[in-house]
Amino acid sequence: MKAFIVLVLCCSFFCSRAIPLPFEFSDCDDPDVFKAVDAALQKYNGDRATGNQFALYMVMEAERTAGPDPQFYMKYRILETSCAIEENKSWQECHYKPFAEAQTGECTARVHMNDAEKTSNVSQDCKIFSDVSKIRITEVPCLGCYHPISSDSSQVSQILQKAIQKFNKHSDEPSLFKLVEIKQAKRKVVNGWKYKIEYEIEETNCSKEEFPDLTPECRITSRG
Ligand SMILES: *[C@@H]1O[C@H](CO)[C@@H](O)[C@H](O)[C@H]1NC(C)=O
Ligand SMILES: *[C@@H]1O[C@H](CO)[C@@H](O)[C@H](O)[C@H]1NC(C)=O
Ligand SMILES: *[C@@H]1O[C@H](CO)[C@@H](O)[C@H](O)[C@H]1NC(C)=O
Repeated sequence: MKAFIVLVLCCSFFCSRAIPLPFEFSDCDDPDVFKAVDAALQKYNGDRATGNQFALYMVMEAERTAGPDPQFYMKYRILETSCAIEENKSWQECHYKPFAEAQTGECTARVHMNDAEKTSNVSQDCKIFSDVSKIRITEVPCLGCYHPISSDSSQVSQILQKAIQKFNKHSDEPSLFKLVEIKQAKRKVVNGWKYKIEYEIEETNCSKEEFPDLTPECRITSRG
């Protein structure tokens, strides 16, 4: 019985092709996500004729497609500022109203950026709440650092499935190998979401000659 510990480093934007995966983060250092949120928020403020502008408070979730003209799916929180809509300022220049007086809201937006024409197509839905105390503030993680994520997440299993297929295809071993255990899964934000997953695989009783890919029949050969 042979076993290997494998480390896979994966950048989600490129692995996931056009299938957007849900990502969570609590700040918006990714410049593309920021641009998309900016476009959505400008549209939200622009569509309102009266009242105060809202400014970005926090990006809760962001998904995007790879390649040019990306499509974004985002969930973000906004907080009322002291700038009146009529002042015609950009929301970045506005200051948040004191928490006790501010209205807050949560928006889900789909934004299609057109890189060449520098335009965007926004469709979104914002819900405004007047009681800020009901909003739970999530801890802002360090960007650019790896943070542990659950090994059960669907992103992790998709990445591993591909990584193990690749291992089996390119290994010099006569047998197919199968996942035994995920040692750790981490993710960080640096111009996209990067994964670092360490996992253990063991030899199965399926030979590469007979089986092009793992099937449920393939069992890890007994230990000892
Ligand atoms: C608001 O700003 C835009 C562009 O900055 C300008 O075209 C428009 O005339 C302004 N409107 C008012 C009411 O100041
Ligand atoms: C923008 O979205 C609307 C509604 O989904 C669609 O009809 C329109 O073609 C889109 N425009 C562009 C430039 O993508
Ligand atoms: C592998 O072992 C399992 C359990 O012993 C058995 O059911 C299965 O048929 C075996 N597969 C092959 C390809 O020998």
